[in-house]
Amino acid sequence: MTTILVTGGAGYIGSHAAKELLGKGFDVLIFDNLSTGKKELVRGGELIVGDLLDKNAVKNVFKTRKIAAVLHFASLIEVGESFKDPRRYYAHNLISSLNLLEAMLEGGIKKFIFSSSAAVYGIPRQIPISEDHPCEPINPYGQTKLFVEKILKDYDRAYGLRFISLRYFNASGADPDGELGELHNPETHLIPNILQAVLGRKESLDIYGTDFPTPDGTAIRDYIHVTDLAVAHVLALQRLLDNAPSEFINFGTNKGYSVREIIAKVEQVTGKKVPCRDMPQRRGDVPLLLASKDKAERLLGWRLRYSDIETIIQTAWRWHQKAV
Ligand code: UFG
Repeated sequence: MTTILVTGGAGYIGSHAAKELLGKGFDVLIFDNLSTGKKELVRGGELIVGDLLDKNAVKNVFKTRKIAAVLHFASLIEVGESFKDPRRYYAHNLISSLNLLEAMLEGGIKKFIFSSSAAVYGIPRQIPISEDHPCEPINPYGQTKLFVEKILKDYDRAYGLRFISLRYFNASGADPDGELGELHNPETHLIPNILQAVLGRKESLDIYGTDFPTPDGTAIRDYIHVTDLAVAHVLALQRLLDNAPSEFINFGTNKGYSVREIIAKVEQVTGKKVPCRDMPQRRGDVPLLLASKDKAERLLGWRLRYSDIETIIQTAWRWHQKAV
């Protein structure tokens, strides 16, 4: 069996990707420090609890196991926190990635799938955003992702490291089988926060910004179902294992919903009213993000299956009712 190392495999997107890999017959080795990841989200494969900042621990994994490729999810993901404490972001997103790449190259492993973000683009100049759009991040989180991408390009040229960098738009929804879902604490993402408000676990949903230049004044995002993202990782991995060249690829739907539209959809799906409060804009939020998905479809034969907004909200709703 081909063993794939999944860093951050106990996290939200990583756990869904691990499930998809296991379903496709790969052997999965998860490396996670469980700082935000949860043991309950590891539903198969082997879990090594370790930190990517611990160089020896990472090197040890490659010395003791035969690994074919790495999927690197482990990362801090909150834009707001990245402004307050950029040092942590550069350590956990950049230095940890360097440690991992170092250990991989020492072990002779040259296939790497990277969790990047639409945050690398900054304020969109054209919509939808395609992969050749300029990369001008407007927050430290986006910078850390862009730095890793630049390092990957250099390592490709110098050492023959082959990578696919997946630039996610707004990952959302939960495993359609109900086994996995989002468990962030604190939760900053829109859909889980709306559902927590519906469930009475928070007083109200804060709407961050009602004065954006959009039709209803709230920000528009491109929501992509986490299982469609998980499938994308396996397709990207198979492409690398077939010796294809390195790529940067967007993963979104090319369809956008405003915060108010998402609230209305949640009310429709759950049959419950969402208590809301209008608040000022959050630092580093842009009015509109929409992905071009042409490259993902063309190169990987990727097709959306779960990313209609009703399925995203239904699967998340099912998960949040049972998850606390
Ligand atoms: N929002 C609210 N209230 C909330 C949470 C979010 O109004 O309680 C708004 C945000 O201001 C934003 C939209 O809902 O306009 C979506 O917010 P999310 O936090 O769900 O997602 P972001 O678009 O801010 O962030 C996501 C990823 C980041 C990534 C970013 C850009 O979570 O990791 O996309 O790609 F950096």
